[in-house]
Amino acid sequence: MEVKKRIVFLVSGRGSNFEAIARAVRTGELSGVEVVGVISNNPNALAIEKAQQLGIPVVVLNSDDFFREGKLDRIPYEKKLLTLLASMKPDWICLAGYMLLLGSEIIEAYSGKILNIHPSLLPQFRGVRAQQQAIEAGCTWTGCSVHYVTVEMDGGPIIAQNKVPILKGDTEKTLSERLLPIEHKTYVEALKKVIR
Ligand code: GRF
Repeated sequence: MEVKKRIVFLVSGRGSNFEAIARAVRTGELSGVEVVGVISNNPNALAIEKAQQLGIPVVVLNSDDFFREGKLDRIPYEKKLLTLLASMKPDWICLAGYMLLLGSEIIEAYSGKILNIHPSLLPQFRGVRAQQQAIEAGCTWTGCSVHYVTVEMDGGPIIAQNKVPILKGDTEKTLSERLLPIEHKTYVEALKKVIR
């Protein structure tokens, strides 16, 4: 019998990438894997509802509970996250709109097994508001990248990329809307490439 690879998602918000992948698994478009859990650092993330609707276990590890003097107390937060991850036994960890940087301990523990999606054609426009950065730079194309997570933010080896045009009059919102379905497709493509 085929043993399916276990994917755990880390999310902070809307969860559309998570949902698209979970649905691709469900329809059989993405085979050989199962989505075994979702961890949200944000108790108000829409992704939580989406996971519940899909019947996928979801756990909230509220990062606000680990803020001291306006700063995330990374060591205890990451320790809890590591314990939680270990209990879910992931083969792959997918970051999808996870708004915190992962600490080196987790990155090392799951080296080469953590993926992230970023809304630009990396190595261009790392960091936040990548779509806006592309508009401001006057680009006529941008896109998204799924890459391995390393300690360098948005800097790990790229697995899959796809492009979208930037149209005259585009705003961050219109461009993000055009890009989002391409992100979903690209994440599925990337998983098909790496999972075996
Ligand atoms: C996506 O644009 C992704 O590229 C970025 O954060 C957004 C998350 O969207 N890292 P969602 O939560 O998957 O809908």
